[in-house]
Amino acid sequence: MVPWVSHISRPSWLHIPRPSTARHILWGILLGFSLSVTSTSIALYLKQRKQKRIEERFEPRPIELRSDEVVDGVTGLIGNTPLVRIKSLSDALGVEILGKAEYLNPGGSVKDRVALRMIEDAERQGLLYPNTGSRIFEGTVGSTGISIATIARARGYEATIIMPDDVAEEKVKALLALGAQVERVRPASIVDKKQFVNLARERAEHFGQDEVASGSAILPTSSSSVVVSTTAAEVVAPDHGILTVEDEQELRTKPRGFFADQSSQNKSNFDAHYEGTGPEIWRQTSGRVDAFVSGAGTGGTVAGTGKFLKNMNGDVIVALSDPEGSGLYNKIKFGVMFDQREAEGTKRRHQVDTVVEGIGINRLTHNMELGLDIISDAFRVLDEEAVAMSRYLVHHDGLFLGSSSACNLVACIKLVKKMGWHSGERVVTILCDSGNRHYSKFWNDDYLRDANIEINMGIIDDLLEAPLANNHSPA
Ligand SMILES: Cc1ncc(COP(=O)(O)O)c(C=O)c1O
Repeated sequence: MVPWVSHISRPSWLHIPRPSTARHILWGILLGFSLSVTSTSIALYLKQRKQKRIEERFEPRPIELRSDEVVDGVTGLIGNTPLVRIKSLSDALGVEILGKAEYLNPGGSVKDRVALRMIEDAERQGLLYPNTGSRIFEGTVGSTGISIATIARARGYEATIIMPDDVAEEKVKALLALGAQVERVRPASIVDKKQFVNLARERAEHFGQDEVASGSAILPTSSSSVVVSTTAAEVVAPDHGILTVEDEQELRTKPRGFFADQSSQNKSNFDAHYEGTGPEIWRQTSGRVDAFVSGAGTGGTVAGTGKFLKNMNGDVIVALSDPEGSGLYNKIKFGVMFDQREAEGTKRRHQVDTVVEGIGINRLTHNMELGLDIISDAFRVLDEEAVAMSRYLVHHDGLFLGSSSACNLVACIKLVKKMGWHSGERVVTILCDSGNRHYSKFWNDDYLRDANIEINMGIIDDLLEAPLANNHSPA
């Protein structure tokens, strides 16, 4: 034996535990492992139980024996739109991005549901009767006008649409082709009497004054905002339910002016989504929805659909996608529309400073208010991002969409990144209208260049490649 060997001391990291300590460590590892397996199984079991409970609330469609699949007229084509998985975004993110293809409605947008519901509700309440020469008035940036004009034609009414003069030209052409009367006015603040919505109300109030010497009269309605005027010299007010013989006679013969008022008081807007879009999404996903993302113009879509989904499952996240220049983002994030530049009554140039049409607003509508309590997050979407998304979707999926749909899909990516989702979570959004409503602005590269809006699909690749956030709770 070499004498110096016994003097070599072992380094501390080479310390070998005595058999009893080793046994303890082994037991510790085993215990930790089994605890983690057990807690994972319990979590999985609870999740599955919850999902089962949700699915129990979902009513499966009965087996139908159909003799044919014919729908009755144009209004029969409204709603029941497909829910499409957007392949490029879903595959890239590892989640399911599902778009409700509202652009497939006959009037070309999500607004068909609202227009139909408003007209049907008015007929039910004895405020409108078809083929009497009655005229529906609305102030709109376009889509609702086209929907009203379409359904008015199908149901036997006339339509007058008042809109700002800076919306895409093709919307005006569609309205004229549908036989609507179109009035284009300078964009103005909502406090201005000449603002397009205020003008529509005024036109409805004065409907028939030129034709009838005695002047038109305004009928009381259930909403303070929905105006119905009549050319009848003797006004008989309908009772919202039981019509007298005189009421009925007047309703069936005298033309009326009806201000639809989708954004302010008319709850038919919210109801169309609460009873239509929401249940359809629930059924189409068998109740498996993790988030619903939508922009807001009047707010009817996000409020009505969001509220239905949230009522069915309180864990569904309802998030707003908001374009540049809109005050809603600040409202959701900080509780106030605080930006002075965007504040109501201070802007003259454009309703909202964005190339995106249909969503974004600087005042709180009644329909939006109905959903404020369930919208838990908001995402600001830049014009460049919306433009990039529209080009990306054509390039990768062959989907030719309008500006608000593109905006919604950008917000979907931002939500997924923020939540750190990557395991098949389901995010549903609205594909509001098609790109063919936007040739002159959003889909016009020259227009975008003049407006200094970059066209760069790479923006979407960057968004898709951005790291997942650690913060998993919506603000
Ligand atoms: C193209 C488009 N997308 C989205 C919306 C927003 O829908 P909502 O009014 O329900 O908020 C509108 C509203 O007019 C629209 O025209």
